[in-house]
Amino acid sequence: MISNSHIQQYAERFGTPLYIYDGAAIETACTQLRDLLGEGVETVYSIKANPNLDVCRLILGQGLGAEVASAGELAIALRAGALASRVIAAGPAKSKDDLRGYVGRGVWLINVESWNELERLSHAAREAGRRVVVALRINPLHADSGARIRMSGKASPFGIDEEALWDRLGDYDDLGGVEIGAISVYFGTAILDAARIIENSRKVADLARRLAHRLGRPLQAVNFGGGFGVPFSDAEEPLDIEQAARGIARICAELRADNFFRTTRFIVESGRYLVATAGRFVCRVQDVKVSRGRHFVIVDGGIHHNLAASPLLRFDRKSPRIRLIGRGHESSEFTTDIVGPLCTTLDCLARDVRVRRPEIGDLVVFENAGAYGLSMSPLLFLSHDVPGEVLVMPSGGLFIRRRRKSVDLLGISDFVETT
Ligand SMILES: Cc1ncc(COP(=O)(O)O)c(C=O)c1O
Repeated sequence: MISNSHIQQYAERFGTPLYIYDGAAIETACTQLRDLLGEGVETVYSIKANPNLDVCRLILGQGLGAEVASAGELAIALRAGALASRVIAAGPAKSKDDLRGYVGRGVWLINVESWNELERLSHAAREAGRRVVVALRINPLHADSGARIRMSGKASPFGIDEEALWDRLGDYDDLGGVEIGAISVYFGTAILDAARIIENSRKVADLARRLAHRLGRPLQAVNFGGGFGVPFSDAEEPLDIEQAARGIARICAELRADNFFRTTRFIVESGRYLVATAGRFVCRVQDVKVSRGRHFVIVDGGIHHNLAASPLLRFDRKSPRIRLIGRGHESSEFTTDIVGPLCTTLDCLARDVRVRRPEIGDLVVFENAGAYGLSMSPLLFLSHDVPGEVLVMPSGGLFIRRRRKSVDLLGISDFVETT
């Protein structure tokens, strides 16, 4: 837990808005998940949740692999120390260049989301003179996954529909350059019910068994997805990670008894769970005002820095966890909106939240901001500075990514004569 006085010091030193990540909390989440799943199950970190290079380095240093969804994320993973042999490439709309890059780098497993993509990958692999292992991403029929953002069990751009898989499998099993050797299912994100995660994993195991027996050969990998959630507000109960992880480990052990799965690598993906609660988004109060009876606390960070905090994207519509630091902390509570500096009513970080009345210059700390904060935000809107990030290492040392001018992100244009 990072103390208020440390948060104040960092805010002074590095400016606000600022992200602060607690390295000890990240390390604990990684080791806990890894240990609960046991040796037979590999955890891969979904870089998209927080691609900060030092955060990635810390996580990969705990023995996790990486799940990447773009060439950029692959570059981050490799720079953070991932071995290509521990990297999974996922994500829809992979371009030819993405596929060539994944093949060329020797990425361990490439997910394909459609038969078209499998054909393109086959082409890229043959071009490179390589043979790559492919995981078919399957969109299962099973709908009730408990995910707060559901990505399967319904019409979806992701993966191949389960019911359409079996008839066409034979047509694609002997494409050159690729070997259908794995299965991947991702039900969705932010699941808080361990029983649902176990049930989802059982469905994946059933699909994996059916696929291996249809192909008539062992599978090299089974990717159970994950979707481990964290509460968005105090109104929710946290996921029982021990129950979920032990349940997955049990299912893997059962699968291992099948001859086709003796040497299979079992995979679980996790982004949010590993980094969300370790992160804080710290803003400074610029104004406190009342308009027609409604209170507004106006801070220097907005949804362009932390889109995930927007009530529009919060699934429970409840108040986020907020800490106030400063002179106003002793004052009485009031109900207020906390809004950012954008010239749009969308720029609301908390609606109707009950907090102590802050004073101008105080800090508002949004808890649970370590996942999908900076990485999911439209940083260029209104050209404010890009917030800095501080990773507080378990040793007490700091890794600092300083705030940047948005003009530095715009790049330099090239003029090209077209006539
Ligand atoms: C295929 C896939 N894997 C993993 C993740 C990471 O999910 P989470 O951060 O909930 O662990 C996502 C998130 O969208 C995803 O689409």
